[in-house]
Amino acid sequence: MKYDVTVIGSGPGGYIAAIRCAQLGMKTAIVEKYNTLGGTCLNVGCIPSKALLDSSEHYHNAKENFETHGIQVGDLKLDFGKMISRKNDVVEQTTGGIAYLMKKNKIDVHTGVASFVSANKIKVEGEESKEIETDKVIIATGSKPSTLPFIEIDKDRVITSTEGLTLDNLPKTMTIIGAGIIGCEMGSVYARLGTEVTIVEYLDRIVPGMDADLAKELQRSMKKNLKVNFQLSHKVKAVSNEGDSTRVVAENKKGEDVTFEADYCLVAVGRRPYTDGLGLDAIGVELDERGRIPVDEQLQTKVKGVYAIGDVIKGLMLAHKAEEEGVFVAEVLAGQKPHINYKLIPGVVYTWPEGAGVGYLEEELKAEGREYKVGKFPFKASGRARASEDTEGFVKVIADKETDEILGVHMLGPRIADLIAEAVVAMEYRASAEDIGRMSHAHPTFAEAMKDASLAAWDNVPLNM
Ligand code: FAD
Ligand code: NAI
Repeated sequence: MKYDVTVIGSGPGGYIAAIRCAQLGMKTAIVEKYNTLGGTCLNVGCIPSKALLDSSEHYHNAKENFETHGIQVGDLKLDFGKMISRKNDVVEQTTGGIAYLMKKNKIDVHTGVASFVSANKIKVEGEESKEIETDKVIIATGSKPSTLPFIEIDKDRVITSTEGLTLDNLPKTMTIIGAGIIGCEMGSVYARLGTEVTIVEYLDRIVPGMDADLAKELQRSMKKNLKVNFQLSHKVKAVSNEGDSTRVVAENKKGEDVTFEADYCLVAVGRRPYTDGLGLDAIGVELDERGRIPVDEQLQTKVKGVYAIGDVIKGLMLAHKAEEEGVFVAEVLAGQKPHINYKLIPGVVYTWPEGAGVGYLEEELKAEGREYKVGKFPFKASGRARASEDTEGFVKVIADKETDEILGVHMLGPRIADLIAEAVVAMEYRASAEDIGRMSHAHPTFAEAMKDASLAAWDNVPLNM
């Protein structure tokens, strides 16, 4: 078997790269070690977590919020098993869709673990062992949950997000280590369903990397509405499986040990690039200090013709970042001159209210000594938000003090995950705050908050506040 391109890994980086290569006329193969395609994102990441976030949100609303709308629910019952099996159905449909796309684009799928024999020869070890000849290779082997040196993830009581997405029974109590994106999303799922959730975080804030006001407001909301117990500035020192429970010991700011006991301990302290079994030494590629595959600005490794994309290289560990890189490499291979604007890759946390951001944070602009102005619009001033009782959060637009160019947009509120796309488009076209402030936004919509925050940033003239 001889291919123009072989893609290793079928996550959002890999499958998108394969499709774009095939569209551009290359004979393409994809190798995936599991029987289902789609990688972390489709199997144990984005899609299943969003399925449970949506289901748990419905339950929480029926339990806590319907009454405000004049809807009384009689005997509300939770069928946790059905919730998990619906999530499994969503995953199955979605991964099946990728298998269809591979067929449609005439991409050969090889199931098994891929390893390098040389830069042009890949061994695939699955039910049968075979070798693939290839001109170019795109490594898209993704990431796995990371842990702390003293924690043993036994997948029974001490678990990661992967197991947390498929528990058999609803836990009464759960300790989550890490108040990052996974901690807040998985914490929301379980807290909405009635689990007592404690999140232990090393830093003095949640969702590091996102806007500080957004983090503060999200923490307040999760504490008030979901009764999540945040223990910030706590350094976890020991975790143990106690049979049918877990014990977490953390050191607080005063240097005292604090113990947290719960049915489960979910470890969410980040993810690590995954290259196990890939045989990178056969082609002389060494990993950087954080276990990532080093690449140049064309996303090529030090070996000519071998590229790497997605979670296994530097940058944000996000599905849409991996996808952009997949398209980028395919187009480089086709002789085109693609470009990725890394500063404009949005980040979203799918809590409720949702949080999202793109572009510069205020801290980054301060560090660069760049002068900026801020316009903020709270959802409590939005008619649409009042109509739906979703008045928490705000839209914050940061613009250059001199030129009025939008430099960053950070939002917390209803349907923000979709609303952030407007900010990305505006910034890609280098819009000023005035530009967005002068564009018509349908009334009443949540998106009007973007217009009003832009007007506030432009010249402090929001119309609805
Ligand atoms: P992966 O999706 O990790 O895919 C890599 C694939 O390579 C895997 O299928 C693996 O089996 C395969 N592989 C590895 N080694 C080999 C080998 N030697 N041979 C053959 N196959 C191999 N991101 C978002 O943007 N939005 C979200 O909402 C979101 N939610 C998430 C929720 C959770 C709980 C988690 C864990 C992650 C979430 N992410 C989210 C992150 C997202 O899943 C990753 O950024 C994304 O999947 C990275 O894509 P990738 O293609 O680089 O790698
Ligand atoms: P993360 O990097 O977002 O958060 C990890 C948290 O753990 C940090 O707040 C960190 O300070 C904390 N931590 C580290 N060591 C600790 C210790 N010893 N004690 C207490 N806290 C400690 O990583 P997370 O949440 O595991 O997610 C991994 C990746 O998956 C993220 O990079 C994210 O990009 C991606 N992801 C994206 C989602 C989305 O786009 N909505 C959803 C879920 C995951």
